[in-house]
Amino acid sequence: MSINSLEFRKTLANLASSVCIISTVFEEEIHGITISSFTSLSLDPPMILFCLGKHSKKYQYFQDTKLVGVSILNSSQDYLSNNFSRNHENYWDSVDIMLGEQSKCPIIKDSLGFLECGIEAKYDGGDHTIFTAKVINHGKLNDFSPLIHFRSEYWAINSKE
Ligand SMILES: Cc1cc2nc3c(=O)[nH]c(=O)nc-3n(C[C@H](O)[C@H](O)[C@H](O)COP(=O)(O)O)c2cc1C
Repeated sequence: MSINSLEFRKTLANLASSVCIISTVFEEEIHGITISSFTSLSLDPPMILFCLGKHSKKYQYFQDTKLVGVSILNSSQDYLSNNFSRNHENYWDSVDIMLGEQSKCPIIKDSLGFLECGIEAKYDGGDHTIFTAKVINHGKLNDFSPLIHFRSEYWAINSKE
């Protein structure tokens, strides 16, 4: 059976996912991309993974970097998800950040939590690359609710089952 990519996207859109901003410093400039492909990988050693599309204009900054920061967005930060998924200049303007103590990568203030990580390995994943990384610092920042991406829209969790 041949897989129609539009239909494939529609099926995958049924996966509710958290939204993160992955950041790095490359040649003294800061860069960031919206991702939903972030997941925990290993507890011992502490590791995470994420996937980046090879065709993204920002891909090269992450392909050549050793350290990344991850900010887990809260439900009021959908505008940041949109901001970091578009390719426009000055997209860091008016984004409230702090620099990670270990990595110096930007972390978005008011996000739910952050991680600072050192890239360990990269694996081919079709039109994406799978990055695995060791966590060198992390923390919870507040008790807000998470930003959820589901069926191409942003959602907030309002009740507990
Ligand atoms: C909610 C959401 C989740 C996304 N998740 C990923 C992801 O996991 N990996 C990825 O490479 N791009 C992801 N993207 C797309 C990127 O943020 C961005 O749009 C893309 O890299 C832009 O490519 P360009 O620089 O060529 O314009 C996501 C976008 C949104 C809005």
